[in-house]
Formats: sequence, structure tokens, C-alpha cells
Amino acid sequence: MPSSQDFKSRYGPWALVTGAAWGLGTEYARQIGALGLNLVLLDIRADDLQRVAEEVRGKSGVEVRVVVTDLARIDFIETVRRETEGIEIGLLVSNAAYPPVGLFFDQSLEDKMRMIEVNCRAPLILVHEFGAKMLAHKRGGIIMMSSGSATQGVAYVASYAATKAYNLILAESLWDELRGSGVDVLAVMPGATRTTGFELSKPHLERSTLAPVNEPKPTVAEALRVLGKTPSWIPGRRNRWILTLAQRLLPRKQMIKLVGSNMRQWYGK
Ligand SMILES: NC(=O)c1ccc[n+]([C@@H]2O[C@H](COP(=O)([O-])OP(=O)(O)OC[C@H]3O[C@@H](n4cnc5c(N)ncnc54)[C@H](OP(=O)(O)O)[C@@H]3O)[C@@H](O)[C@H]2O)c1
Repeated sequence: MPSSQDFKSRYGPWALVTGAAWGLGTEYARQIGALGLNLVLLDIRADDLQRVAEEVRGKSGVEVRVVVTDLARIDFIETVRRETEGIEIGLLVSNAAYPPVGLFFDQSLEDKMRMIEVNCRAPLILVHEFGAKMLAHKRGGIIMMSSGSATQGVAYVASYAATKAYNLILAESLWDELRGSGVDVLAVMPGATRTTGFELSKPHLERSTLAPVNEPKPTVAEALRVLGKTPSWIPGRRNRWILTLAQRLLPRKQMIKLVGSNMRQWYGK
């Protein structure tokens, strides 16, 4: 883990974490709070968000503000601006996502459009808003949650995987554009990770073991450790090894079929 002093001077005094009421977002809140940064936590789930805010305040003694809003709202950034007025966001963790699982033509167009709004439009606006301020201050960090599904087509999450590719490419491009500016950018590409959202998707894990299911705690610790060191990162040694090796050895067509076959086993009837 980075030292608290170093982390605060590079990414403090405040961090904004979206999707903080559950899963990886909650873990980001815990670990960033433990490193001494004050937090603005955003989510659509008011009660769970309050619970996380109280926990982090109690354990870390940092200041925590909550913003309850739907990132799909056309004007969500107005709410975020109001709640962050007068404070410097030195670290943005764009984590919230809408990840429905299902065959493309079984999903409604509304569902697909919501994925674009929550997974692409909202991160773009947040990066535009807070990245520009970081650049002006010549310091800061941006973590964009992508996914292992971002690097090839994936049956059962076709639209979602495409939105995660957007996050990956945006973050990697900004990593290069902002090199030397004092602002670090990182795309995180987890494989399956044991969060509430993942468990609610009800995968039949017993049918396939292509890659291990990771835990949120080490996933977030790795992301915070490699921020500023690399444009993108696959958490978990085994996941990193499997994905990197498969991409090098397999033709793209085979890779898409392999990942798709795993998804059919997890989510098919
Ligand atoms: N878990 C995995 O296996 C996995 C794998 C690869 C990548 N990722 C990525 O990691 C990130 C976190 O995933 P996770 O599994 O921790 O998610 P999660 O357990 O589903 O938690 C995400 C949180 O974000 C909230 N949220 C969703 N849409 C929102 C919106 N429109 N406005 C405000 N808040 C919203 C969710 O509320 P609701 O539940 O009410 O929607 C939930 O509280 C995502 O970007 C995901 O794509 C996860």
C-alpha cells in the first residue's frame, strides 16, 4: 500500500467515489479513508450509502459527504457540483456501473441506453469536470473501473462489455495525454469479483472455473498501489496471467468463443 502521507499529498484532500454503497465502491471508500483522504460518496442507494459513510467516518476519522443521485439523470452533475463546492477533489474513482446480464436481444432498448448513460456518459462528464480542475492544480488521480470483458466481445454482456471498453480506452488515452502533468490515470480491469452486484447476477460458478473469482479488498488495494505506475491493470495474479497469456496465444476469434462459452455455462439455462 502507498504511505498515507504520500497518497494524501498526491491525491488529497478529497476523493469522490461513485457507486460507493455496495461492492468495490464501498471497499474504495474504506481504503481511501484509511489513507486519510476525506470522501464524497455517491450512489443511488441512500440507506446503504449512509451506512458506509458512518462506518468510514467511525473507522478513519475523515470527513465524509454523501450524494444520493442517479448517474443516468441528465443533470446529475449539477447535484455533484453543489455537494463538492469549495472542496478540492484530488482523486476521482469512477466506479458505479449498470451491468445487466442477458442475451442482447432479450434486453430492452431502455436497458441498453441506461448502460450508455451510467457506464459511459456519466464517467465522461465526471472526468471532464474534475480532471480539468486536477490539471489546473497540476496534481490528482483518476481511476476508471473497466473490466476484463473490455478486451474482446463477450456473449451475455455485449453492451456492458462495449461500455467497459470505452472506459478502458478513455483512461489509457488520458494516461498518455496527461503524462508529466501531475495527474495520474488508471483503468482497472477486474475479472469476476465477489460483490453484491456480481452475486445478484446469479452465475452458476460450479459449472466453470476459467478464472478465479476475486475478492474486493485485494482488488482495490492493487488498484491504489498501481495508480500512477501503469495505464491499466488486471487485479489478481492468476487473472492477469490467464488473460495476458490467452490474448497472446489465442486468435481473437477463439478468445471470443472461449469467454462466451464460460458465460454460457455461468448464465445459460
Ligand atoms: N463485480 C465484478 O465481478 C466486476 C467485474 C468487472 C468489473 N467490475 C466493475 O467494477 C465496478 C463496481 O462493480 P461492483 O460489482 O462493485 O458493483 P455493485 O456491487 O453492483 O455496486 C455498484 C453500486 O453502484 C450503484 N449504482 C449503479 N448505477 C447507479 C447509478 N445510475 N447512479 C448511482 N449509483 C449507481 C449501485 O446501485 P444499484 O445496485 O441500485 O444499481 C451499487 O450500489 C463497476 O464499474 C463494474 O463494471 C465489476
